This record gives sequence, structure tokens and C-alpha cells, in this order.
Amino acid sequence: MTTRHFLSTQDWSRADLDALLAQAAAFKRTKAGRELAGKSIALLFFNPSMRTRTSFELGAFQLGGHAIVLAPGKDAWPIEFDVGAVMDGEAEEHVAEVARVLSRYVDLIGVRAFPKFQDWSVDREDRVIRTFAKYATVPVINMETITHPMQELAHILALQQHFGTSDLRGRKYVLTWTYHPKPLNTAVANSALQIATRYGMDVTLLCPTPDYVLDTRYMDFARANVAENGGSLSVSHDPDSAYRGAHVVYAKSWGALPYFGRWADEKPIRDAHKHFIVDERKMALTDGGVFSHCLPLRRNVKATDAVMDSPACIAIDEAENRLHVQKAVMAKLAS
Ligand code: CP
Repeated sequence: MTTRHFLSTQDWSRADLDALLAQAAAFKRTKAGRELAGKSIALLFFNPSMRTRTSFELGAFQLGGHAIVLAPGKDAWPIEFDVGAVMDGEAEEHVAEVARVLSRYVDLIGVRAFPKFQDWSVDREDRVIRTFAKYATVPVINMETITHPMQELAHILALQQHFGTSDLRGRKYVLTWTYHPKPLNTAVANSALQIATRYGMDVTLLCPTPDYVLDTRYMDFARANVAENGGSLSVSHDPDSAYRGAHVVYAKSWGALPYFGRWADEKPIRDAHKHFIVDERKMALTDGGVFSHCLPLRRNVKATDAVMDSPACIAIDEAENRLHVQKAVMAKLAS
């Protein structure tokens, strides 16, 4: 039997996702459970985290399980991912052994591995988590690589609970690029595009120039989701027209794909679009819209204090939901 992983929401049916969201809502009402009693999860962090680490560890504990956190290259051996590599560099062991050994110890493996930002054609292969999934004999969960599926579920649950309905069709959804002093990965933007179209919303991707449009894989997923679930997809470079009448504004900064590996060339474009900040003036153009962000967020760079502290901001609800949706995913995969 093949092992079922959670690498992307696109691999799971709408019925599966709806069931996970229903289970997450139930966990939100009653914290404790025994779904992971006697079970364990290894959480491998190749990059920093606050929310993901806390909510996975706590979620496993609340379901009677145990989480082991590892930072390869820091408190665990550096890992090689190339098949056939002559391992005479930094790595002390190969993912083939790491994934197989961990599979003998634990029931689930979570992996956070951001792209390297030098060559998008390499990053888009998502090699770290894909090789873990290849060699592991227990389910592997994506804790953010080139997408962030746990954030997707937490985001949709927050919207459903805010609007008081599981049906988000007809909502005008703006995924807006925001300024950040450094180029960031496209994971959350890819994810927001996927999940907003999956739930049938009318989605506008708002970004500075055509260079900031997301990878064709995610644009194609979004178009396929629209064909299957209704709603629409458009691209805009005009903040005011995109915000006008919106019900949801979701913000993220990301680096333009054509500039991967030559970020100094991208910086002048980025710096010329600081006005993409989410502020009170733009939010006033919406139709009483809500604002959210995956966090962490640089205040007064990505969004103003006034927006972050307004009743329209549901970013804290979304962050809380990470705990509930991850419990639902762990319980499902470990059952
Ligand atoms: N949103 C999110 O994944 O937060 P962390 O990077 O703190 O885990």
C-alpha cells in the first residue's frame, strides 16, 4: 500500500479538505483528544519557525502524542539529498537513511524546507520534501516548502468562521504583493492562490509588474480550480481597482521569479512599490473586507498598525487555526 502524504492541498479532494476543516472546527471547540495516543511525529526544521513549531508540538501533545523537533545541520547531522552523490562535502548522511530510520521510530514526519533562492528551476522541484516522501514509509507533512498547505487550511477556516458559512463562493478575494526589504519565497502566495480558487472565490492576484506573477504551475492549478469550482481569476497591477469592493485582502511579499539569483537587479523594482503596503485608505475601498496574513509580518512595512489592530484583521484567528487544522491532519494521517 502506498503511504498517503500531505504535501499539497491539490493532492487532496475538496471532500477530504472539507472533512479536515470540519474536524479542525471540532478540535477548536474541544481541545483534548486521544487520536495520537502512543504515537509520535518528528518535526524537521531546515528554517526558523514560531507558529509552526509551537502549534505542531502542542497539537501532538493535546492529542496524546509526542513531537520530536530536529534541526538538521544544527542539532542533527547535515543531510544529503542528491541521488548518487559522492558525499565528501558537509552532509554526514543521506535522506534515504534519515527518512527510513525516522519511519522506524515515529508515525509521522513534518518537514519545513524553504527554497534556496538561487535558481527557481531547481527550487520548484521541491527536492527536500519530495525525497523525504520518496523514502519515508510513514506519512510526510509539508510544514512549508514551496507551498504552505497548513496555512491554507487555517486561512480557509478563518474565512469560513468570519463569514459564518462554509460556502465562500461569490467573495471577492485579493491576494496582494506587499513590500519587504528582502525578497521572500513564493510559498504562501502559491498557496493562497491555490486555496482561494479551490473554494470558488473571485480571485485577483495584485502585484507590481508581470514579473511578479506566480509560477505557471500555480497559475494553472488556479485556472483548473476555477473551471472545477466556479469563481474567477484575474491579475492586476493597480491597487485601487483591485481593492474596490473586496471581501478579503490577503497580503504576502515575494520575490519575482525572473530575478532569482540576481536580487540586486530586482531591488529597484521592489523599492518602487512600497506603496503596496496594506493601509487604512486601501482597506476603506473594500466592501467591509477582512485582512489577513500568514505572519510573521513587519508592521508599517507590509501593513500599517491601524490595519493590524483593526477589527478587520483576522490574522490572529488564522494563526490560532494552525493548531486546529494540524491536529486534524495529524489525526487523519496517523489513523
Ligand atoms: N506562518 C508560519 O508558518 O509561521 P512560522 O514561520 O512562525 O512557523
